[in-house]
Amino acid sequence: MSIVTSYIDSIRHRDRVFDFMVPQADSRLDIRNGCMLYVEDVSVSFDGFKAINNLNLYIDEGELRCIIGPNGAGKTTMMDIITGKTKPDTGSAWFGQKINLLEMSEPEIAQAGIGRKFQKPTVFEEQSVFDNLELAMAGPRGVLPTLFSKLNGEQKDHIEEVLVQIGLQEHGKARSGALSHGQKQWLEIGMLLMQNPRLLLVDEPVAGMTHQEMDRTAELLTSLAGKHSVIVVEHDMDFVRSIANKVTVLHQGSVLAEGTMDQIQSDARVKEVYLGE
Ligand SMILES: Nc1ncnc2c1ncn2[C@@H]1O[C@H](COP(=O)(O)OP(=O)(O)OP(=O)(O)O)[C@@H](O)[C@H]1O
Ligand SMILES: [Mg+2]
Repeated sequence: MSIVTSYIDSIRHRDRVFDFMVPQADSRLDIRNGCMLYVEDVSVSFDGFKAINNLNLYIDEGELRCIIGPNGAGKTTMMDIITGKTKPDTGSAWFGQKINLLEMSEPEIAQAGIGRKFQKPTVFEEQSVFDNLELAMAGPRGVLPTLFSKLNGEQKDHIEEVLVQIGLQEHGKARSGALSHGQKQWLEIGMLLMQNPRLLLVDEPVAGMTHQEMDRTAELLTSLAGKHSVIVVEHDMDFVRSIANKVTVLHQGSVLAEGTMDQIQSDARVKEVYLGE
């Protein structure tokens, strides 16, 4: 089919959104050897203080990794480096084997397929749950294409699928401002999912949640693993235990220990700096 006929054909399908409006993970993403994220020998100092000190971290495709560590260990700074908010002084950070994160801006990194959830939910309170998910589909490209396009069947299905995934299928029409704290957190995870990220970073997802909400969040994050790689930073040890396969302990900007929760909890160095406090 020539370019012209395929263009005319795409106009004829009026409920079809042009491909450029559909966010897609970066086509350069190469994870053929199974590794989604490489952070190697990364250091960063703030006013002479080494917040990250020779950090090495490797995250596999589909892995759910928990990162723990005392206050000030560098957990949030590590996420800032992966998402382009902070540039390290030395070291390297690669998304798959071909995408050099250190050469990219924050929006470029988000566009490439790394989504980040901050602790404070930033949903549009006046909009419905469904509309928030629809707006999130536009992602870093802005809301303009969303305003001018009608949702096609596939996009509606994607929104419905995410509603089910985040347990808000009964609340699609609800005003987002009326949701509970936990439900807002799930909606925000849903908004990230609308952009089809390959890697999700979640900082302290269960702070302020009820026990029931924590259990539901554990289910949600566990269900995302496999389809996405997920990095969860969390202080709540019961929660970490409930979701963790592999846990990384950060201390003074470096990896102190890595392993299963049982291995971590019986590690003398970990007990000393963290769990035994
Ligand atoms: N932009 C900045 N300027 C100066 N110092 C900073 C900056 N960002 C982080 N730091 C310092 O770097 C260290 C690591 O901070 P970071 O927020 O990464 O720790 P954290 O492990 O996330 O801690 P918490 O568990 O309390 O969230 C801290 O000592 C912090 O004060
Ligand atoms: Mg932090």
